[in-house]
Amino acid sequence: MTSFQGHSVLITGGGSGLGEGAARHFAARGAQVTITGRRHEALARVASEIGEQCCVVVGDVTVAEDRGRMIAEAIRHGDGQLHTLVNNAGNMYRGPLADLDEQQLLNVFHSNVIAGMMLAQGALDALERTSGAVIFIGSVHSQRAFPGASPYAATKGAVETLTGVLAAELGPRGVRVSCVRPGAVFTQINQRAGLGDDATALARLEGLASAHALGRIGTVEEIAEAIAYLATAQWTTGAVLTVDGGLSLGVTNA
Ligand SMILES: NC(=O)c1ccc[n+]([C@@H]2O[C@H](COP(=O)([O-])OP(=O)(O)OC[C@H]3O[C@@H](n4cnc5c(N)ncnc54)[C@H](OP(=O)(O)O)[C@@H]3O)[C@@H](O)[C@H]2O)c1
Repeated sequence: MTSFQGHSVLITGGGSGLGEGAARHFAARGAQVTITGRRHEALARVASEIGEQCCVVVGDVTVAEDRGRMIAEAIRHGDGQLHTLVNNAGNMYRGPLADLDEQQLLNVFHSNVIAGMMLAQGALDALERTSGAVIFIGSVHSQRAFPGASPYAATKGAVETLTGVLAAELGPRGVRVSCVRPGAVFTQINQRAGLGDDATALARLEGLASAHALGRIGTVEEIAEAIAYLATAQWTTGAVLTVDGGLSLGVTNA
């Protein structure tokens, strides 16, 4: 098992879903983790279960002052160091083109794309000192066309593209930039996207199982493993690691 002893990680959106899974994964291997989000109670629950290794910053990634606090607190919690920034916080905004609202489009680009870039900017000097990594979270939506999901898909396409450009730009400073591209995993984002209550959202997601080469949706831990791998892979940068059970292959049994 890879040790993350002495490793400091900042994970946005760490109070639920994939961010929570990543926080638990890193902490179980010795890392100091700082988790952020807007809901204090969600963060406090995760932190109380992880223990002293986990530090909480309540804030909104679209607010510059909050991002500054997140980075400062992660460095403080990491004894002056930051090794990995996981830009995981994200929202799904979907709807048919005719119904899209411009302000909501701006909001989803702000949280899913711009906030992560600005966090990377703010954390850059600290990451340079540790030869650290920025890890973005893309989505299978960049590869498969789900009608009605154009806003979300566009943000994830942007994230995957900027991963390569930032990797080229920051490579000379020793900072690696990569991206995990998850397929379908049951988390709160599916409910917030209007897929229904817990049971309905899970059933609708499970309905996608046969579209996966491996015949099932994924787990939070399977995504956390990929994030942790990219945090340590010293000769990998600009990579978009697809972890989707084969959903993006577009398997058809015609
Ligand atoms: N689940 C999937 O199938 C799947 C597949 C591909 C990609 N992803 C991506 O994985 C990432 C995590 O999503 P998830 O599935 O784990 O869903 P989730 O449980 O809804 O997690 C999203 C997290 O982002 C945080 N967040 C959202 N907007 C924020 C803001 N403005 N400021 C601060 N924090 C904010 C939320 O915390 P607060 O509400 O407390 O702020 C929440 O903890 C997202 O980028 C998503 O697009 C998910």
